[in-house]
Amino acid sequence: MAEERPRWREDFPVRWDEDHYMTRRELAKFLTLGSGLLATANGLIAFIGLTGRIPTTPVQRIAAADELAPGSSLLFRYPTADDPCILVRDAAGRLDAFSQVCTHLSCAIVHRPDEQALACPCHKGSFSSTDGRPLAGPPTRRV
Ligand code: FES
Repeated sequence: MAEERPRWREDFPVRWDEDHYMTRRELAKFLTLGSGLLATANGLIAFIGLTGRIPTTPVQRIAAADELAPGSSLLFRYPTADDPCILVRDAAGRLDAFSQVCTHLSCAIVHRPDEQALACPCHKGSFSSTDGRPLAGPPTRRV
């Protein structure tokens, strides 16, 4: 009578005789070499980070300060033509610039000077027009 093999042995065959055994010495070599490679890669990344140039964004003239009346805003693009931004002048005359892209799902935000807010019409999100922090709605990150 043939011994019946369980079904799982057919689905997951383990052939111990073909398995590769690793000695402790081989494992220690592997771990030492692996750790050495990781340490070298970390050193290389640190070196590149310390000696590499920090990317800077160019200075761009947007408007003269007196061109923007208190409580108004101006749309502009910075640093590229694909990055919409908004410049806001509050009632006290202070200028603040923000990305015009809502941090929730990237709709364009609009200035609401009466609420001192930047409003997103998509999901009724709202941001402070003084520091960009989220005030209402689904956004959780600053603009
Ligand atoms: S995209 Fe602005 S609140 Fe959702």
